[in-house]
Amino acid sequence: MKLAALDILSFLASGEWVSGEEMARNLGVSRAAVCKQVKNLRQRGYEISSSTGKGYCLAKKADLLDADRIRCSLRTAWLGRDLQVRGEVSSTNEVALSRVSYSPNGSVVLAEIQTAGRGRLSRPWASPPGGIWMSLILKPAMPLSQVYRINMAVSVALCRVLSTQFGLDAGIKWPNDLLVGQLKICGILMEVGAQVDRLDYAVVGIGLNVNNDISQFPAEWRSTTLAAQLGHEIDRCDLIARILQEIEMAYENMERKEIFEEWRRRSVTLNRQVLITSATGDRRGRAVDLAEDGALILEIGEKRERILAGDCIHLRDEQVVSSVASAAGANGEKR
Ligand code: BTN
Repeated sequence: MKLAALDILSFLASGEWVSGEEMARNLGVSRAAVCKQVKNLRQRGYEISSSTGKGYCLAKKADLLDADRIRCSLRTAWLGRDLQVRGEVSSTNEVALSRVSYSPNGSVVLAEIQTAGRGRLSRPWASPPGGIWMSLILKPAMPLSQVYRINMAVSVALCRVLSTQFGLDAGIKWPNDLLVGQLKICGILMEVGAQVDRLDYAVVGIGLNVNNDISQFPAEWRSTTLAAQLGHEIDRCDLIARILQEIEMAYENMERKEIFEEWRRRSVTLNRQVLITSATGDRRGRAVDLAEDGALILEIGEKRERILAGDCIHLRDEQVVSSVASAAGANGEKR
């Protein structure tokens, strides 16, 4: 059997001392293998004490992802009913994509840690323990041209959770980053498979900073976490169930105008000077509107341009564009 970090964590989750020998015996592996995974977990940020004769103990009671606890709190009809909770994966989007052909609509993949988390525009996404790193497999019957509706529904649902559950004033930075104040708390990465004009599936990856340590994140990423905003840690299992419920509700209404209107109303990009970088070049202008298909309407001098995709940097009024553009990084808000 190949020992995974999560196997060890499940023993230590109670916060009690557990001997290396006991874990090795129960898992059918050597003590050296247990020791190696403990080292691995420490490198990933888990505080594990060790003592001769007593074994190992999680320094503070760990908030671990637990599929059964999530299922207990889940109030959805279909989203998350097929739920995979993994310890360490390269990327939950990658796992979801590998399962898409045989997974039902609404399947969800979660992981404690991602070793190669993916952000938009091929950026890496730092995924230490304590965050919510989650991918949804969605199979709506819709033309590819409507796929932006999924993005809108998911970002609106996440904003609703942050504001109703925690009283945070979360805004959407075009196209779908979630900010609290000027700081990025959540990113969304959608990867789709399609025929010429029919969507086969969308894998929606959500990276939400919750209890994870961001002290090592470069300051220019301008990130925040729920715990930092609230001053205490959050029970991730309950939160995941709540998020899935809100997403299911918004998704079922995604064709209604209300979702677009709320997405627009929650925008923190509108009426700002922005720099859009994309494969077709850079554009600098004022974000004057958001169209129903998700396009950003940019006023550049006398002209208006529709921007469908790209990276958006919020500019301060007299900001020198070159210095801002160079600050772009993985998990970060780029202004
Ligand atoms: C962004 O660049 O803002 C999007 C970040 C998306 C990160 C999430 S974490 C879960 C899922 N798995 C990944 O590899 N990426 C997404």
